[in-house]
Amino acid sequence: MSGERAGREDPMPTLETDRELVGIVAVADNGVIGKEGNMPWHIPEDLQHFKETTMDHPVIMGRVTYEGILETLGEPLPGRTTVVLTSRDLETPKNVVLAHGLEDAVETAERVARDRHDDTDRIFVAGGATVYEQFLPVVDRIVVTEVHEEPDGDTRFPEWDRGAFDEVSRDERDGVAFVEYERQ
Ligand SMILES: NC(=O)c1ccc[n+]([C@@H]2O[C@H](COP(=O)([O-])OP(=O)(O)OC[C@H]3O[C@@H](n4cnc5c(N)ncnc54)[C@H](OP(=O)(O)O)[C@@H]3O)[C@@H](O)[C@H]2O)c1
Repeated sequence: MSGERAGREDPMPTLETDRELVGIVAVADNGVIGKEGNMPWHIPEDLQHFKETTMDHPVIMGRVTYEGILETLGEPLPGRTTVVLTSRDLETPKNVVLAHGLEDAVETAERVARDRHDDTDRIFVAGGATVYEQFLPVVDRIVVTEVHEEPDGDTRFPEWDRGAFDEVSRDERDGVAFVEYERQ
């Protein structure tokens, strides 16, 4: 966890937060994470893991991922504030706020957590590919579900610097593994 981080947009913005920035993703063995705006699989165990891990924390995501969730669930993620990165001016239901850049997203997530008197120590970054790409250089931790399949898809998890992280836990299940990496 660090007070200052450099992101990709706008030469070197600093992301000011004392909370841990945590990427969370489910990625197939062939790197696929998405298909036609949605997940390429339905794995209840992973949905449960995502829910338990992110519950009560602010969750930052891209507009395409957000719209996929709305389509699937019929509502935003319950029990969490979603911070949607977009250049658009969308109508937002309760528990959804817009952000127009990385710094804005982190500041908004911070403000939301404070306003909820939320003493959670984590802000989650939940994709999709464009959002992971921007945040991966600055996250403190990455929570990965390895999906042992090779599905068709149109969206892949970006390259990331594994050498900068330690694997700190691994829970092997049937067809999936829940793995956590911590920045060195
Ligand atoms: N397997 C997993 O764990 C997982 C997790 C998340 C998503 N996914 C999948 O990934 C796919 C979506 O990924 P994606 O890469 O296509 O889309 P995305 O990252 O979800 O959303 C892209 C959009 O986010 C907005 N955005 C991104 N960075 C921004 C910035 N710095 N400032 C302002 N707006 C910004 C833009 O919205 P505007 O166009 O509105 O400006 C952009 O078009 C879906 O299939 C989804 O299901 C999988």
